[in-house]
Formats: sequence, C-alpha cells, structure tokens
Amino acid sequence: MSSISIIGCGAIGRLVAEGVHQGLAGDYRVVSVFDLPQRARAASLAADIGCIMADDLGEMLATKPDLVIEAATGDALHQCAQACLEHGSSLIVLSSGALTDRAFLNSLLALAVRHGVKIYVPSGAIGGLDLVRAAVMGEKAKAIFTSRKPPRALVGAPHLMGRDLCGLNRAETVFEGTVPEAVAGFPQNVNVAASLSLAMGGAEHIRQAVIADPELDLNVHRIEIQGSFGTASIEIRARPMSTNPKTSMVAAYSVLALLARIKSPLEVGA
Ligand SMILES: NC(=O)c1ccc[n+]([C@@H]2O[C@H](COP(=O)([O-])OP(=O)(O)OC[C@H]3O[C@@H](n4cnc5c(N)ncnc54)[C@H](O)[C@@H]3O)[C@@H](O)[C@H]2O)c1
Repeated sequence: MSSISIIGCGAIGRLVAEGVHQGLAGDYRVVSVFDLPQRARAASLAADIGCIMADDLGEMLATKPDLVIEAATGDALHQCAQACLEHGSSLIVLSSGALTDRAFLNSLLALAVRHGVKIYVPSGAIGGLDLVRAAVMGEKAKAIFTSRKPPRALVGAPHLMGRDLCGLNRAETVFEGTVPEAVAGFPQNVNVAASLSLAMGGAEHIRQAVIADPELDLNVHRIEIQGSFGTASIEIRARPMSTNPKTSMVAAYSVLALLARIKSPLEVGA
C-alpha cells in the first residue's frame, strides 16, 4: 500500500482523493491533504475520506507520503516541490505550466535523481502524449496545437489587450505563434501547452493557435503532429467539472489512471 498526500483540495484534489479512497487507482491510501488558502476544503475532504488535514507543508510531510499530488497552483508547486522531493516523495504535477521555467524544472529533476524519486506529469486536459513521445523518436516531428474556446473563456487574456470578443458571431483565430508567446498571451492555456512541450522535449517544434468560437460551450484542444512516422490528429472535446468549469473532468481522471499505471505490472502506451 503506497501513501499519498494531496496539495490543493479543489476540483481535481477532491475527485482524485475520493477516487483513491474508493480504490479506483489500486493499492493506495490518502494519508493527508493540505490546502493553504482554503483550510475548510481540506478539513471537509479529510473528514470525508478519513485522513489527516495538514496545517502546513511540514505537517503534511510528517505523514510520510510516498507520493505527493500537486493539484493547486504553479506558485504552490514552487513553494512545495523541493521539500517534497528532498523528503523522498515522488511528485505528480498538475500545474505543469510552472515547469516551463527551465531552471526550476532542471533543479527539480536534479533533486529527483539525487533522492531516487520521480516527477510525473499526467496527460491532464489533453491526451495522445504517448503518441507524441513516440513521434519524436523519429525525425522532423512538428506539431500544431490549437485551442478552440467560447469567447467568454478568453476574457481578460493579456494578448487581447482588453478586446471584448463576446460580440463575435463567427469563429476567429485570435492568436498564432510560439508556445512561449501563447503562454504569455493566454496564461490560462499554459498547462496543456506545457505538457505537450514536455512530451516533445521542448517547444521549438510547436506552433500554437487560439480560436474564439461563439458556437462552442466546451473547450476543444487539437494536436496535429507530423514527422517521419506519418501524421496524426488528436482532438479532445473536454467536459468541464461542475466544481470548477475551467478544469476538464478528464484531467482528474488522468491522475487516477496514472496512479493505476504506476502500480500495474502491465504498461499500455508509450
Ligand atoms: N495539466 C493539466 O492539463 C491541467 C488541467 C486542469 C487543471 N490543471 C491545473 O491543476 C491545478 C488544480 O486545478 P483545480 O481545478 O483543482 O483548481 P481549483 O481552483 O479547483 O483548486 C485548487 C486548490 O488549491 C488550493 N491552493 C492554492 N494555493 C495553494 C497553496 N499554496 N498550497 C495549498 N493549496 C493551495 C486552493 O485553495 C484550491 O482549493 C490548477 O493549477 C489547474 O490550472 C492542470
């Protein structure tokens, strides 16, 4: 039985904790949960699944988790990751956008090696990262990553400089460029683009587009990849979580699936 701590008891943290508690991921038990800004969320989750509510990171690590799941924010990852790895806990990172900071990523990778633990980035709100990792084993792999969203989901994006898209009556491409430009211009897309970049071993061969589409009520992510293997298109029309409409349900499921894969003697997919 492996022990898990969860940082962040919002939409993903709760669904994952409940799934683990129900045995969906296999031989795991949640030993502690921690939510710095919303202690009440951690308290009710801890009561529901019968684990410790940690008041701070030290208290959480004192419960000796084999694995820590970060389901909070990029800032939380910055605050907690080093201590978790030094403590000998592997990390599952949802706020993968924080790993676009190369120096930060490299420092965490070095710590993981030194302490014999691992850093996992689940596929989150997209999929097909197994195929992407296989494609880059061949030559000249390059990808186009397109996010198609309802205009209201793009409100406030820095790239739009205050432009109001709510009057749009047909789909419009509002951005085309590199991943770092997209991360700066549309920070809410950062996790998906970051996970794709990590799977490709860098962002150099990815072009990104953002489309505002007034006919949509779901977020649609599409990866088109080509290389010596051929071509592939992966499209996800992801259903949002009722507890956080910005988060796709499949992101939480992907953590449970990853936990199950870690334990399984059978690995399916690259
Ligand atoms: N990788 C992906 O594809 C993907 C997909 C969806 C969401 N995400 C990311 O996963 C994270 C969690 O998503 P969510 O929908 O559960 O968010 P949420 O807002 O529902 O929950 C986050 C929780 O973290 C807590 N928190 C914030 N700062 C904290 C800190 N310093 N220490 C401890 N707890 C802290 C908040 O109080 C909140 O309860 C977000 O960063 C989100 O962007 C990633």
